[in-house]
Amino acid sequence: MAKDPGRVLIFDTTLRDGEQSPGAGLNLEEKLAIAKQLARLGVDVIEAGFPFASAGDFAAVQRIAQQVGGEHGPIICGLARASRADIKACADAVAPAPWRRIHTFIATSDIHLEHKLCKSRKDVLAIVPDMVSYARSLIEDVEFSCEDAVRTDPEFLYEVIEAAIAAGATTINIPDTVGYTTPSEFGTLIAGINQHVSNIGEAVISVHGHNDLGLAVANFLEAIKNGARQLECTINGIGERAGNASLEELVMVMHVRRRYFNPFLGRNENSPTPLTAVHTKELTKTSRLVSNLTGMVVQPNKAIVGANAFAHESGIHQDGVLKNRLTYEIIDACTVGLKDSRISLGKLSGRSAMRARLEELGYCLARDDLDEAFARFKELADRKREITDRDLEAIVSDQVQQPEARFQLKFVQVSCGSSSRPTATVTLADEEGGENTISAVGTGPVDAVCHALNLLADIPNNLVEFSVKSVTEGIDAMGEVTIRLRHDSSLYSGHAADTDVVVATAMAFVNALNRLVAGQKRRPLHPQKDPIVLGAKPTL
Ligand code: KIV
Ligand code: ZN
Repeated sequence: MAKDPGRVLIFDTTLRDGEQSPGAGLNLEEKLAIAKQLARLGVDVIEAGFPFASAGDFAAVQRIAQQVGGEHGPIICGLARASRADIKACADAVAPAPWRRIHTFIATSDIHLEHKLCKSRKDVLAIVPDMVSYARSLIEDVEFSCEDAVRTDPEFLYEVIEAAIAAGATTINIPDTVGYTTPSEFGTLIAGINQHVSNIGEAVISVHGHNDLGLAVANFLEAIKNGARQLECTINGIGERAGNASLEELVMVMHVRRRYFNPFLGRNENSPTPLTAVHTKELTKTSRLVSNLTGMVVQPNKAIVGANAFAHESGIHQDGVLKNRLTYEIIDACTVGLKDSRISLGKLSGRSAMRARLEELGYCLARDDLDEAFARFKELADRKREITDRDLEAIVSDQVQQPEARFQLKFVQVSCGSSSRPTATVTLADEEGGENTISAVGTGPVDAVCHALNLLADIPNNLVEFSVKSVTEGIDAMGEVTIRLRHDSSLYSGHAADTDVVVATAMAFVNALNRLVAGQKRRPLHPQKDPIVLGAKPTL
């Protein structure tokens, strides 16, 4: 690949760095659904996971490589620490994709060398070419990252980058691992790399950044101005701690302010050629899919995809917008795929019409799940006047969520009111189909339901988050519930929707319990926090 691809490449890491957010763990079906939607969105690279982490992670990357990578599809990439076993597992997992990449990394800052890796700069300078050339012997497209680049001595950083490129790295990634830098500093760092690394012309410069100070997107924009041509980002900005740079914000800045950025890419200011290959109309749909499947709620005032991003509450604004949209709007909501999504599916609509609409929304359900979704759709059509895309998304996201569920909610009933003690009765089925029913009281109906479910499931946990919001407007709207449970210092989220919020609560709680059980079995390695153990074999 030439140094400058002539546009900005979008490297999506929702399924790798995004999935490292506490409580955002995804199962294989969910990862596949997101990867398919990312391909529709038009990202250039999908970082599908860290294959060495566990058998489940390997299988997910491999399935994505088989089913989402294609002749005209995105590059499928896997992450590997700078170790032979990691790199080999990664190469094997991405092998089915015609366009595949190994992304290998090692920390380069003194603080990481001393306290995490217990290695010297000299050691790192020996490991980097060794591992990059090993990766190159397996796959042609190799990305190398200097973890914590922003806090690395620039002179040492240049040396490491030069060695990585000489060994065959085709993309060099500069991460702000701890979200510490500021726009002008980051721009200067990228300019310095361009100036001082003699062979930089042989690789694409990429940037990766966390949002601890809320500057990730701004930092990336300055990096583009100084020569970066690949941005590593996530949908809804999810990721470790305060998250990663948000894909939708970056793409829309470059869409709306194309004339400003064109000259930095050597183009005429008025060039109409888009700066990225992303289909902006897919942004809203992708954001909802990721939010529904990860249980990571998008804040209402989030730029581009927040519920309020296109709402004009105040009378003065509404008046202006009605006279001329441009008075207060810089983006037409249709550009990001946010339009009146009322669909003509109703009580009499058939299964295939519903399936077609679901596929357009990014949900490809297996036969049984589709039957279940159709039953819920019909049930909803009896209770609700109009069914929108959002309703459909809300009812099916539970279906994609739990193929290997340990518990199934069979029944829930509550009694409450001003003069009675809130009491819930619930029935749970286990994997063998055995059913157990119990009643419990609580401070309110939600507490009573959670209490009853905990008595049946018998898995210690703390409820650390409970949120409910309506899917659409109107008195007949479905309530969407998100729950987070803490168990052994890990977080697990659950998500469900129903016109009855108490039922949605019970479903979301069971969903979180199922993820907890699955997470206990999985316990994958963390690519940045777990040390490399020489001779360790992946659990494939
Ligand atoms: O934040 C970081 O440094 C990373 C690297 C593995 C690229 O995620
Ligand atoms: Zn990161």
